[in-house]
Amino acid sequence: MFGLFSTHALHLADKHGVFAHLIEGGPTSAERVAAARGIDPETLERLLLVLAAVSVVERDAEGLYRVAPALAPSLDPGNPRYIGGFVRHLVTNTTRQLHQLDDYLARGKAAVDAELPAPFETIYRDEAATEAFLEAMWQLSFGVSGELVQLAELDDVRTLVDVGGASGAFAVAALKRYPQLSVTVFDLPQVGPFLDRTREAGRFGDRLGFTPGDFFEDALPPADCLSFGYILSDWEDTTCVELLRKAYDACGSGGRVLLMERLFDEDGGPLATAAMNLSMHVETQGRHRTAAEYTALLKEAGFGDCTVHRSTWDKHLVMGRRS
Ligand SMILES: C[S@@+](CC[C@H](N)C(=O)[O-])C[C@H]1O[C@@H](n2cnc3c(N)ncnc32)[C@H](O)[C@@H]1O
Repeated sequence: MFGLFSTHALHLADKHGVFAHLIEGGPTSAERVAAARGIDPETLERLLLVLAAVSVVERDAEGLYRVAPALAPSLDPGNPRYIGGFVRHLVTNTTRQLHQLDDYLARGKAAVDAELPAPFETIYRDEAATEAFLEAMWQLSFGVSGELVQLAELDDVRTLVDVGGASGAFAVAALKRYPQLSVTVFDLPQVGPFLDRTREAGRFGDRLGFTPGDFFEDALPPADCLSFGYILSDWEDTTCVELLRKAYDACGSGGRVLLMERLFDEDGGPLATAAMNLSMHVETQGRHRTAAEYTALLKEAGFGDCTVHRSTWDKHLVMGRRS
């Protein structure tokens, strides 16, 4: 019932630099944080009380607040685990679309969506929205990618195409771990300038390429390995199989495909997957799946030797091979 308040409190404290201040300064009163950040102390105290009740911050007997140590990396803008941009996406974009669920219940998704723009027309409606979305994606994917590239064991792979690779979170993790590797991000043209920034910031030169394209219209560039991170969860099964068949054609004999996704347990959990499954419903045409469902999609597209590798985060790897 009260999740609404905690998510907004989380977003506002992040937006106004409260967590960064507490992480740097240690236990502090709401009044002192408010004075330092130039924000209203009473409103901040009320937000912090909610955040203390859900254990995001801890409050001592003197009323001083500190960020719960286990959560500090996720709330520290300077840390690779920081997720403030993703929380902002939930509050500003997802919330705006949640009312569609009521319409879906009354009229069905297909009828409601027929009157709306396609998913990525809304997400990339202007440059600011594009940048905010890609920042949120980076935050969701960069930290875990360090583990996913390890699980993927890419030592024998020379060329990798990251399909819908956005501003390059997975590509960067792969390039850092495997010196023999070159990665091409295949994505919509709007994403190109953001991938350019990543290439320049990491000085990857021609090891990190960008191919603009539309995976519904164009063939995928050939490579030893093709990866799909949070792509199949945007689309229906039939579309997923079409995309995987394109990957099958692109990777040649002995090639591999990597699916990196949240996974549903057999009992319908965990909460993060169930919640993001609702989010996929309103923001895209997709859904989250079990490992067995992803394996079935891979097999339908022709891949075999399918394996599932779980990370310690909430994005996992399902791998298939073209024999
Ligand atoms: C949910 S994001 C996933 C980003 C990244 N792979 C990750 O794991 O964080 C989906 C990506 O698919 C890309 N995309 C959507 N439609 C596409 C299309 N028709 N052709 C190519 N890329 C597309 C988007 O631009 C975006 O980068």
